Amino acid sequence: MATLAGVTASPLERALTASALRPLPAPAAELLLDLQAPPRLGAHLRLVHDVAWTLTDALGRCWPTVPFDTTAVLFGAASHDIGKVLHPEELSGPGSAHEAAGERLLLRYGVPQHLARFAGTHGSWTAPDVTTDDLLVTLADKIWKGNRLPELEQRVVEHSGRTPWEALIELDDVLENLAAGADERLAFQFAFPVAA
Ligand SMILES: [Fe+2]
Repeated sequence: MATLAGVTASPLERALTASALRPLPAPAAELLLDLQAPPRLGAHLRLVHDVAWTLTDALGRCWPTVPFDTTAVLFGAASHDIGKVLHPEELSGPGSAHEAAGERLLLRYGVPQHLARFAGTHGSWTAPDVTTDDLLVTLADKIWKGNRLPELEQRVVEHSGRTPWEALIELDDVLENLAAGADERLAFQFAFPVAA
């Protein structure tokens, strides 16, 4: 049985430490533990953060002139659904109440606005003032389970400043590689219970 410092690890602790997935930024992991977040939420945020890491690394190399804030995107991926602590029914069903609630929660815990904002924006990628950082968090939140949204990908390409057909091919290559791991990620997420 998994242990942490000699004590049996809780499902949430296991969701935040198990497997070779990259660790969440420490402030995000600590907040999830403080809030006793649902283990499945911890697993989901870990997966989307890991995908965002690979996505920003790949795009940073093939689109080196595209300005995006990797630290902000990674924190956004690691915290975007934190409002589901307050709306756990949205972990297994539709709903957007967690979005504004999540941003307020992060602000209440002292997270700066420029990092808390993703909890509120990740579901509204069609907004006219959407930023590249917003789009990348949303893209990670789709492709982790192999979900391809051509309109979202088109918007990302528009933010690339590259020749559209070239950028589309490059983005498609990155997303296909990520989508190939979707089944394994889904199995990891659903191995953890919704109830804390
Ligand atoms: Fe999500």
